[in-house]
Amino acid sequence: MTLNEQKNLAAVSAIDDLIKHGLIFSGMKIGLGTGSTAMPAVERLAERIRDGSLSDIRAVPTSFQTTIACENLGIPVYSMNSREIGGQLDLAIDGADEIDPGNNAIKGGGAALLREKIVAYNAKVFVIVADSTKDVPSLGTGFALPVEIIAEARTSVMAEIRSLGAEPVLREGVRKAGPVITDNGNLILDCRWKAGADGAAPIDPEQMEERLNRIVGVVENGFFTAKKPIVYIARENGTVDKR
Ligand code: A5P
Repeated sequence: MTLNEQKNLAAVSAIDDLIKHGLIFSGMKIGLGTGSTAMPAVERLAERIRDGSLSDIRAVPTSFQTTIACENLGIPVYSMNSREIGGQLDLAIDGADEIDPGNNAIKGGGAALLREKIVAYNAKVFVIVADSTKDVPSLGTGFALPVEIIAEARTSVMAEIRSLGAEPVLREGVRKAGPVITDNGNLILDCRWKAGADGAAPIDPEQMEERLNRIVGVVENGFFTAKKPIVYIARENGTVDKR
């Protein structure tokens, strides 16, 4: 299977399985993630609304990309603070950049980590859908960890991140001169640690998620370790592992 086929398979299987097990249901409040694996999940949800399996779904999108998709597909969108949502969701479904065997994840490749974490951490159930390349033995040395920061603190935050052993790189825009500006008006630093002699990452993602957020000027980081997701990973042979 190609990567796109795997993304689609993971997304469609997850939505159908979650409906079957009653975790996606009519009248629910659902958080919808961002990226090329979350999008087919949003499309499948819309299909299941159209075929009458679901009704009265209230969705909270995690980015402009997802808001536009919901608008085009006719899924009603709300903010986390709306009376209809009240800051709490029944379930959130999203993609990930990397997932370790303990179901800790790195997210934020699409720069949407802040809203994604607000949505995921305030949902009763968190679900990740992914292709096989996202399944890794440890986090921090492969896909660079996105950290959303206040522009004014760029230099001081970069120095503090270096002191924690990572090399931060300011994310540059594509078809736009200068850095990426997030949906919240902030910058992104992509931070990577060097692997130790044994090939493993020299950090504990659970501790580092908390440690990074203590730096003045950091808004949020892309380690997702505090809320353990149900993970659906599509494999090259066309099967889907659920863990
Ligand atoms: C968006 O900011 C991210 O967290 C995405 O969920 C993550 O980058 C995975 O994206 P893909 O599914 O496009 O690989």
